[in-house]
Amino acid sequence: MNLAGKDLVSIRDLTKDEIFFILRKADEMLPFASGEKKTRALEGKILATLFFEPSTRTKMSFETAMHRLGGDVIGFSEPAMTSIKKGETLADTVKIVDSYSDIIVIRHSMEGAARLAAEFADSPVINAGDGAGRHPTQCLLDLFTIMKEKKKIEGLKVALVGDLRYGRTVHSLAYALALLGAELVFVSPESLKMPKEIVNDCKELGAEPRSLTNLERAIKDVDVIYVTRIQKERFPDPTEYKKVVGSYKIDMDLLRHAKDDVIVMHPLPRVNEIDPEVDRTKHALYFRQAFYGVPVRMALLSLLLGVDVR
Ligand code: CP
Repeated sequence: MNLAGKDLVSIRDLTKDEIFFILRKADEMLPFASGEKKTRALEGKILATLFFEPSTRTKMSFETAMHRLGGDVIGFSEPAMTSIKKGETLADTVKIVDSYSDIIVIRHSMEGAARLAAEFADSPVINAGDGAGRHPTQCLLDLFTIMKEKKKIEGLKVALVGDLRYGRTVHSLAYALALLGAELVFVSPESLKMPKEIVNDCKELGAEPRSLTNLERAIKDVDVIYVTRIQKERFPDPTEYKKVVGSYKIDMDLLRHAKDDVIVMHPLPRVNEIDPEVDRTKHALYFRQAFYGVPVRMALLSLLLGVDVR
């Protein structure tokens, strides 16, 4: 399978076989990601990271991935310190960065920004999150985490919990889980329900997602609880945010209603959706999930650049 030169703007850009191919490559990357094995496979290649929105995990795990592969990284995380401040367009910025680098990662507050970047760059462009739109690399690392823990995705029951309206990670993940045959339960306040077009996409793929507001009832027989932060920065009206903040919290009391082998995932950052007491339990997968961003992004960088890592 050859992914060299491809963009990754949406998880919809990948077939089921391509997703599993990337996950298998990510598994091969694990000893390199941990530093146990060394490689210089991407020596001479340059990754450009264009972060127009804050990030800890996505930005730093891409940087770690590139360094672990022997490549170099350029980029910015403060657009106010670039010529965008002087009025340069995103298209011009991307064209220039394209001439300095071999692969581009972009995070932007506008949905569609990564697609636009992909149109103006010859090098592969990876969407690292576009507004409330999509976050395909997070989706891949979420799938990788589930595969590592549960050894399969088909037939698993997964609850997506929290801000399903503005949360881009769950938009990508719901589609991918439906594509791979998981059963979906959507748990959110009424005002933060999963957008209709994503529900319809899941149905077209054969899933029949259930939508609930009661978390205790929803998690009773699920294999995975995937929790998201209420995305304060996406609310047009702060009073609407105040109405829903703190709607759900995963704590030890709640987990007594769940299966003994349930795993709790979160793309992070968390604010108050998961009680820190849960961190010490076998259910807490979110910190390992964040680490898995490194092997998954190593797999992506090497595949899109068409370089074999051994
Ligand atoms: N999960 C995630 O996208 O985290 P960051 O915003 O820290 O990159």
